[in-house]
Amino acid sequence: MPSSMITKNCYILGIESSCDDTAAAVINNDTILSNVVATQKIHEEYGGVVPELASRAHQQNIIPVVYQALHKANIDKKELSAIAFTRGPGLMGSLLVGTSFSKSLAMGLNIPLIDVNHMQAHILAHFIKNDNQKTPRFPFIALTISGGHTQIVKVDDYFKMEILGQTIDDAVGEAFDKSAKILGLTYPGGHLIDKYAQLGNPLAYKFTKPKVSPLDFSFSGLKTAILYFVRDKTKEDPDFVKKNLNDICASIQFTIVDYLMDKLKNTVKQTGIKQIAIGGGVSANSGIRTALKQAESELGWTTYIPKLEYCTDNAAMIAIVGALKYKQKLFAKYDITANARIKF
Ligand code: KG4
Ligand code: ZN
Repeated sequence: MPSSMITKNCYILGIESSCDDTAAAVINNDTILSNVVATQKIHEEYGGVVPELASRAHQQNIIPVVYQALHKANIDKKELSAIAFTRGPGLMGSLLVGTSFSKSLAMGLNIPLIDVNHMQAHILAHFIKNDNQKTPRFPFIALTISGGHTQIVKVDDYFKMEILGQTIDDAVGEAFDKSAKILGLTYPGGHLIDKYAQLGNPLAYKFTKPKVSPLDFSFSGLKTAILYFVRDKTKEDPDFVKKNLNDICASIQFTIVDYLMDKLKNTVKQTGIKQIAIGGGVSANSGIRTALKQAESELGWTTYIPKLEYCTDNAAMIAIVGALKYKQKLFAKYDITANARIKF
Protein backbone atom coordinates (compact mmCIF):
# COMPACT_ATOMS: atom_id res chain seq x y z
CA MET A 1 0.00 0.00 0.00
CA PRO A 2 1.45 3.39 -0.96
CA SER A 3 1.32 4.93 2.55
CA SER A 4 4.42 6.99 1.74
CA MET A 5 2.03 9.20 -0.23
CA ILE A 6 0.01 10.33 2.81
CA THR A 7 -0.72 14.04 2.57
CA LYS A 8 -1.99 16.43 5.25
CA ASN A 9 -4.45 18.01 2.85
CA CYS A 10 -6.40 15.04 1.53
CA TYR A 11 -8.91 14.65 -1.29
CA ILE A 12 -10.95 11.47 -0.94
CA LEU A 13 -13.45 10.04 -3.39
CA GLY A 14 -16.28 8.21 -1.61
CA ILE A 15 -18.37 5.60 -3.44
CA GLU A 16 -21.67 4.16 -2.19
CA SER A 17 -23.60 1.36 -3.91
CA SER A 18 -25.08 -0.75 -1.09
CA CYS A 19 -28.73 -0.64 -2.14
CA ASP A 20 -30.51 1.30 -4.89
CA ASP A 21 -28.60 4.60 -4.94
CA THR A 22 -25.38 4.94 -6.91
CA ALA A 23 -23.45 7.74 -5.26
CA ALA A 24 -20.06 9.43 -5.39
CA ALA A 25 -18.67 12.36 -3.42
CA VAL A 26 -15.39 14.19 -3.03
CA ILE A 27 -14.27 15.46 0.35
CA ASN A 28 -11.36 17.78 1.09
CA ASN A 29 -10.42 16.97 4.73
CA ASP A 30 -13.88 17.40 6.38
CA THR A 31 -15.45 19.64 3.73
CA ILE A 32 -17.65 18.12 1.03
CA LEU A 33 -16.82 19.45 -2.45
CA SER A 34 -19.40 17.39 -4.36
CA ASN A 35 -22.13 14.90 -3.52
CA VAL A 36 -23.81 13.16 -6.45
CA VAL A 37 -26.57 10.56 -6.21
CA ALA A 38 -28.31 8.65 -9.01
CA THR A 39 -31.50 7.27 -7.51
CA GLN A 40 -32.78 4.23 -9.37
CA LYS A 41 -36.37 4.88 -10.42
CA ILE A 42 -36.81 1.40 -11.91
CA HIS A 43 -37.85 -0.08 -8.52
CA GLU A 44 -40.92 2.15 -8.15
CA GLU A 45 -43.04 -0.01 -10.45
CA TYR A 46 -42.19 -3.12 -8.38
CA GLY A 47 -43.04 -1.54 -5.01
CA GLY A 48 -39.61 -2.38 -3.58
CA VAL A 49 -35.94 -2.79 -4.49
CA VAL A 50 -35.27 -5.62 -6.97
CA PRO A 51 -31.64 -6.69 -6.25
CA GLU A 52 -30.77 -7.87 -9.78
CA LEU A 53 -32.08 -4.65 -11.34
CA ALA A 54 -30.24 -2.57 -8.72
CA SER A 55 -26.97 -4.27 -9.54
CA ARG A 56 -27.42 -3.68 -13.26
CA ALA A 57 -28.35 -0.02 -12.76
CA HIS A 58 -25.25 0.50 -10.59
CA GLN A 59 -23.11 -0.77 -13.45
CA GLN A 60 -24.71 1.76 -15.80
CA ASN A 61 -24.52 4.66 -13.34
CA ILE A 62 -21.20 4.32 -11.61
CA ILE A 63 -18.89 5.87 -14.21
CA PRO A 64 -21.10 8.91 -14.99
CA VAL A 65 -21.74 9.48 -11.25
CA VAL A 66 -18.03 9.36 -10.37
CA TYR A 67 -17.21 11.57 -13.35
CA GLN A 68 -19.80 14.14 -12.20
CA ALA A 69 -18.53 14.08 -8.61
CA LEU A 70 -14.97 14.81 -9.77
CA HIS A 71 -16.17 17.46 -12.23
CA LYS A 72 -18.30 19.25 -9.59
CA ALA A 73 -15.41 19.15 -7.13
CA ASN A 74 -13.27 20.62 -9.88
CA ILE A 75 -10.44 18.14 -9.43
CA ASP A 76 -8.75 15.57 -11.60
CA LYS A 77 -8.69 11.92 -10.51
CA LYS A 78 -4.89 12.19 -10.34
CA GLU A 79 -5.28 14.64 -7.43
CA LEU A 80 -7.13 12.07 -5.29
CA SER A 81 -5.40 10.92 -2.09
CA ALA A 82 -7.51 7.76 -1.60
CA ILE A 83 -10.72 5.96 -2.60
CA ALA A 84 -13.26 5.06 0.10
CA PHE A 85 -16.07 2.62 -0.69
CA THR A 86 -18.97 0.87 1.03
CA ARG A 87 -17.91 -2.70 1.78
CA GLY A 88 -21.21 -3.63 3.46
CA PRO A 89 -23.78 -4.26 4.79
CA GLY A 90 -26.13 -4.22 1.83
CA LEU A 91 -27.18 -6.16 -1.25
CA MET A 92 -24.30 -8.31 -2.50
CA GLY A 93 -24.84 -7.61 -6.22
CA SER A 94 -24.98 -3.87 -5.53
CA LEU A 95 -21.94 -3.83 -3.22
CA LEU A 96 -19.88 -5.75 -5.76
CA VAL A 97 -20.20 -2.98 -8.34
CA GLY A 98 -18.88 -0.24 -6.02
CA THR A 99 -16.24 -2.52 -4.51
CA SER A 100 -14.82 -3.71 -7.84
CA PHE A 101 -14.85 -0.21 -9.30
CA SER A 102 -13.12 1.30 -6.25
CA LYS A 103 -10.47 -1.41 -6.14
CA SER A 104 -9.65 -0.96 -9.82
CA LEU A 105 -9.50 2.83 -9.58
CA ALA A 106 -7.32 2.82 -6.46
CA MET A 107 -5.00 0.27 -8.04
CA GLY A 108 -4.87 2.18 -11.32
CA LEU A 109 -4.02 5.44 -9.54
CA ASN A 110 -1.74 3.67 -7.05
CA ILE A 111 -3.41 5.31 -4.05
CA PRO A 112 -4.79 3.85 -0.80
CA LEU A 113 -8.14 2.08 -0.70
CA ILE A 114 -10.39 2.53 2.35
CA ASP A 115 -13.26 0.18 3.21
CA VAL A 116 -16.29 1.70 4.94
CA ASN A 117 -19.08 0.13 6.96
CA HIS A 118 -22.33 1.68 5.68
CA MET A 119 -23.92 1.77 9.15
CA GLN A 120 -20.92 3.50 10.70
CA ALA A 121 -21.01 5.96 7.82
CA HIS A 122 -24.64 6.92 8.58
CA ILE A 123 -23.45 7.81 12.08
CA LEU A 124 -20.18 9.53 11.14
CA ALA A 125 -22.06 11.72 8.62
CA HIS A 126 -22.58 13.95 11.67
CA PHE A 127 -18.90 14.95 11.38
CA ILE A 128 -19.15 16.41 7.90
CA LYS A 129 -18.29 20.09 8.24
CA ASN A 130 -21.43 22.16 8.23
CA ASP A 131 -21.40 25.84 9.07
CA ASN A 132 -24.88 25.92 10.53
CA GLN A 133 -24.82 22.77 12.59
CA LYS A 134 -23.26 21.61 15.82
CA THR A 135 -21.38 18.29 15.99
CA PRO A 136 -22.10 15.63 18.64
CA ARG A 137 -19.55 15.04 21.41
CA PHE A 138 -18.55 11.52 22.49
CA PRO A 139 -20.23 9.57 23.90
CA PHE A 140 -23.55 9.97 22.09
CA ILE A 141 -26.47 7.82 21.02
CA ALA A 142 -27.13 7.33 17.31
CA LEU A 143 -30.52 6.27 15.99
CA THR A 144 -30.30 5.18 12.35
CA ILE A 145 -33.69 4.96 10.73
CA SER A 146 -34.19 4.17 7.05
CA GLY A 147 -35.74 1.76 4.59
CA GLY A 148 -32.99 -0.74 5.34
CA HIS A 149 -32.08 -0.12 8.96
CA THR A 150 -33.34 0.64 12.44
CA GLN A 151 -30.54 0.68 14.98
CA ILE A 152 -29.63 2.29 18.28
CA VAL A 153 -25.87 2.62 18.69
CA LYS A 154 -23.73 3.94 21.54
CA VAL A 155 -20.87 5.88 19.98
CA ASP A 156 -17.80 6.21 22.26
CA ASP A 157 -15.39 7.31 19.54
CA TYR A 158 -15.21 7.46 15.73
CA PHE A 159 -14.60 3.73 15.44
CA LYS A 160 -15.71 2.57 18.85
CA MET A 161 -19.40 1.84 18.59
CA GLU A 162 -21.76 -0.63 20.22
CA ILE A 163 -25.17 -1.67 18.91
CA LEU A 164 -27.62 -1.43 21.83
CA GLY A 165 -30.77 -2.30 19.95
CA GLN A 166 -32.14 -3.00 16.49
CA THR A 167 -35.15 -4.25 14.62
CA ILE A 168 -35.89 -7.93 14.80
CA ASP A 169 -37.83 -7.84 11.51
CA ASP A 170 -38.72 -4.89 9.21
CA ALA A 171 -36.94 -1.54 9.22
CA VAL A 172 -38.96 1.54 10.19
CA GLY A 173 -38.83 2.90 6.62
CA GLU A 174 -40.34 -0.39 5.46
CA ALA A 175 -43.14 0.07 8.00
CA PHE A 176 -43.87 3.46 6.44
CA ASP A 177 -43.57 2.15 2.88
CA LYS A 178 -45.68 -0.97 3.47
CA SER A 179 -48.37 1.08 5.23
CA ALA A 180 -48.37 3.44 2.27
CA LYS A 181 -48.75 0.50 -0.10
CA ILE A 182 -51.74 -0.80 1.87
CA LEU A 183 -53.29 2.68 1.49
CA GLY A 184 -52.71 2.59 -2.27
CA LEU A 185 -49.92 5.19 -2.25
CA THR A 186 -46.88 5.00 -4.54
CA TYR A 187 -43.50 3.51 -3.52
CA PRO A 188 -41.59 4.62 -1.52
CA GLY A 189 -44.51 6.13 0.36
CA GLY A 190 -42.91 7.28 3.63
CA HIS A 191 -42.90 10.94 2.65
CA LEU A 192 -46.55 10.69 1.49
CA ILE A 193 -47.66 9.28 4.85
CA ASP A 194 -45.84 12.25 6.39
CA LYS A 195 -47.51 14.72 4.02
CA TYR A 196 -51.06 13.50 4.72
CA ALA A 197 -50.31 12.98 8.43
CA GLN A 198 -49.73 16.70 8.82
CA LEU A 199 -53.37 17.30 7.85
CA GLY A 200 -54.91 14.62 10.05
CA ASN A 201 -55.78 13.72 13.65
CA PRO A 202 -53.05 11.50 15.16
CA LEU A 203 -55.46 10.12 17.75
CA ALA A 204 -58.22 9.16 15.29
CA TYR A 205 -57.29 5.47 15.25
CA LYS A 206 -55.28 3.47 17.74
CA PHE A 207 -52.66 0.93 16.68
CA THR A 208 -50.93 -1.19 19.30
CA LYS A 209 -47.20 -0.65 19.62
CA PRO A 210 -45.26 -3.93 19.17
CA LYS A 211 -43.73 -5.37 22.34
CA VAL A 212 -40.11 -6.52 22.22
CA SER A 213 -37.13 -5.97 24.56
CA PRO A 214 -36.68 -2.32 25.66
CA LEU A 215 -34.11 -1.22 23.06
CA ASP A 216 -35.16 -3.46 20.15
CA PHE A 217 -37.82 -2.81 17.51
CA SER A 218 -40.41 -4.83 15.65
CA PHE A 219 -42.58 -3.49 12.84
CA SER A 220 -44.03 -6.53 11.07
CA GLY A 221 -46.97 -6.81 13.52
CA LEU A 222 -47.86 -3.17 13.00
CA LYS A 223 -47.97 -3.67 9.24
CA THR A 224 -50.35 -6.63 9.68
CA ALA A 225 -52.51 -4.65 12.12
CA ILE A 226 -52.83 -1.84 9.56
CA LEU A 227 -53.60 -4.31 6.80
CA TYR A 228 -56.46 -5.91 8.78
CA PHE A 229 -57.73 -2.52 9.95
CA VAL A 230 -57.96 -1.22 6.37
CA ARG A 231 -59.47 -4.50 5.10
CA ASP A 232 -62.21 -4.51 7.78
CA LYS A 233 -63.05 -0.81 7.41
CA THR A 234 -63.15 -1.08 3.62
CA LYS A 235 -65.66 -3.92 3.90
CA GLU A 236 -67.98 -1.52 5.77
CA ASP A 237 -67.28 1.39 3.41
CA PRO A 238 -65.32 0.91 0.15
CA ASP A 239 -64.33 4.60 0.24
CA PHE A 240 -63.05 4.46 3.83
CA VAL A 241 -59.38 5.07 2.94
CA LYS A 242 -60.16 7.89 0.52
CA LYS A 243 -62.40 9.65 3.02
CA ASN A 244 -60.06 9.26 6.00
CA LEU A 245 -56.59 9.23 4.46
CA ASN A 246 -55.24 12.14 6.53
CA ASP A 247 -56.44 10.68 9.83
CA ILE A 248 -55.17 7.18 8.98
CA CYS A 249 -51.72 8.53 8.02
CA ALA A 250 -51.58 10.74 11.11
CA SER A 251 -52.46 7.79 13.35
CA ILE A 252 -49.88 5.49 11.72
CA GLN A 253 -47.17 8.16 11.96
CA PHE A 254 -48.08 8.96 15.56
CA THR A 255 -47.75 5.27 16.51
CA ILE A 256 -44.38 4.85 14.78
CA VAL A 257 -42.88 8.09 16.10
CA ASP A 258 -44.12 7.40 19.62
CA TYR A 259 -42.55 3.95 19.41
CA LEU A 260 -39.18 5.37 18.28
CA MET A 261 -39.31 7.94 21.09
CA ASP A 262 -40.15 5.21 23.66
CA LYS A 263 -37.01 3.36 22.57
CA LEU A 264 -34.87 6.49 22.79
CA LYS A 265 -36.22 7.24 26.27
CA ASN A 266 -35.34 3.67 27.33
CA THR A 267 -31.83 4.18 25.92
CA VAL A 268 -31.32 7.48 27.75
CA LYS A 269 -32.54 5.82 30.96
CA GLN A 270 -30.15 2.90 30.52
CA THR A 271 -27.04 4.84 29.45
CA GLY A 272 -27.53 8.27 31.03
CA ILE A 273 -26.49 9.78 27.67
CA LYS A 274 -28.74 12.61 26.52
CA GLN A 275 -27.06 13.47 23.21
CA ILE A 276 -29.09 11.92 20.42
CA ALA A 277 -27.95 11.94 16.80
CA ILE A 278 -30.31 10.62 14.14
CA GLY A 279 -29.68 9.60 10.55
CA GLY A 280 -31.22 7.64 7.67
CA GLY A 281 -34.02 8.64 5.28
CA VAL A 282 -36.76 8.50 7.93
CA SER A 283 -35.01 11.43 9.70
CA ALA A 284 -36.88 13.55 7.15
CA ASN A 285 -40.12 12.72 8.94
CA SER A 286 -41.79 15.80 10.42
CA GLY A 287 -43.21 13.80 13.33
CA ILE A 288 -39.83 12.55 14.58
CA ARG A 289 -38.31 16.00 14.09
CA THR A 290 -41.02 17.63 16.20
CA ALA A 291 -40.78 14.92 18.87
CA LEU A 292 -37.00 15.40 19.13
CA LYS A 293 -37.35 19.18 19.40
CA GLN A 294 -39.88 18.63 22.18
CA ALA A 295 -37.49 16.26 23.97
CA GLU A 296 -34.84 19.00 23.88
CA SER A 297 -37.03 21.41 25.81
CA GLU A 298 -38.89 18.90 28.01
CA LEU A 299 -36.22 16.28 28.75
CA GLY A 300 -33.00 18.28 28.36
CA TRP A 301 -31.73 16.22 25.42
CA THR A 302 -29.41 17.63 22.77
CA THR A 303 -30.40 16.33 19.36
CA TYR A 304 -28.54 16.31 16.05
CA ILE A 305 -29.96 15.83 12.56
CA PRO A 306 -27.61 16.19 9.57
CA LYS A 307 -28.69 17.90 6.35
CA LEU A 308 -31.18 15.63 4.59
CA GLU A 309 -28.76 14.88 1.72
CA TYR A 310 -26.41 13.37 4.33
CA CYS A 311 -29.25 11.40 6.01
CA THR A 312 -30.45 9.39 3.01
CA ASP A 313 -28.02 6.97 1.36
CA ASN A 314 -25.18 9.11 0.00
CA ALA A 315 -21.45 9.02 -0.69
CA ALA A 316 -20.56 12.11 1.37
CA MET A 317 -20.89 9.93 4.48
CA ILE A 318 -18.55 7.36 2.90
CA ALA A 319 -16.08 10.12 2.05
CA ILE A 320 -16.02 11.52 5.63
CA VAL A 321 -15.27 8.05 6.99
CA GLY A 322 -12.60 7.82 4.31
CA ALA A 323 -11.07 11.08 5.54
CA LEU A 324 -11.18 9.96 9.20
CA LYS A 325 -9.58 6.61 8.37
CA TYR A 326 -7.03 8.23 6.06
CA LYS A 327 -5.68 10.30 8.97
CA GLN A 328 -5.16 7.08 10.94
CA LYS A 329 -3.80 5.20 7.90
CA LEU A 330 -6.53 2.61 8.23
CA PHE A 331 -6.24 1.26 4.70
CA ALA A 332 -7.63 -1.87 3.06
CA LYS A 333 -5.70 -4.34 0.95
CA TYR A 334 -6.40 -4.26 -2.80
CA ASP A 335 -7.77 -7.82 -2.64
CA ILE A 336 -10.53 -6.94 -0.11
CA THR A 337 -14.01 -8.28 -0.97
CA ALA A 338 -17.54 -6.95 -0.36
CA ASN A 339 -19.30 -8.28 2.74
CA ALA A 340 -23.11 -8.08 2.64
CA ARG A 341 -23.52 -8.90 6.34
CA ILE A 342 -20.58 -7.10 7.85
CA LYS A 343 -20.88 -6.08 11.51
CA PHE A 344 -19.20 -3.16 13.29
O1 KG4 B 1 -31.90 6.29 3.85
P1 KG4 B 1 -32.86 6.05 2.72
O2 KG4 B 1 -32.90 7.08 1.62
O3 KG4 B 1 -32.56 4.71 2.02
C1 KG4 B 1 -32.45 3.49 2.69
O4 KG4 B 1 -33.49 2.88 2.89
O5 KG4 B 1 -31.32 3.11 3.07
O6 KG4 B 1 -34.29 5.90 3.38
C2 KG4 B 1 -35.43 5.69 2.59
C3 KG4 B 1 -36.59 5.45 3.51
C4 KG4 B 1 -37.81 4.98 2.76
O7 KG4 B 1 -38.39 3.93 3.47
C5 KG4 B 1 -38.70 6.22 2.76
O8 KG4 B 1 -40.07 5.94 2.66
C6 KG4 B 1 -38.35 6.82 4.09
O9 KG4 B 1 -36.96 6.67 4.18
N1 KG4 B 1 -38.74 8.23 4.19
C7 KG4 B 1 -39.65 8.70 5.06
C8 KG4 B 1 -39.76 10.10 4.82
N2 KG4 B 1 -38.90 10.43 3.81
C9 KG4 B 1 -38.27 9.27 3.44
N3 KG4 B 1 -40.38 8.07 5.99
C10 KG4 B 1 -41.21 8.83 6.72
N4 KG4 B 1 -41.37 10.16 6.56
C11 KG4 B 1 -40.67 10.83 5.63
N5 KG4 B 1 -40.83 12.16 5.47
ZN1 ZN C 1 -28.43 3.40 4.53
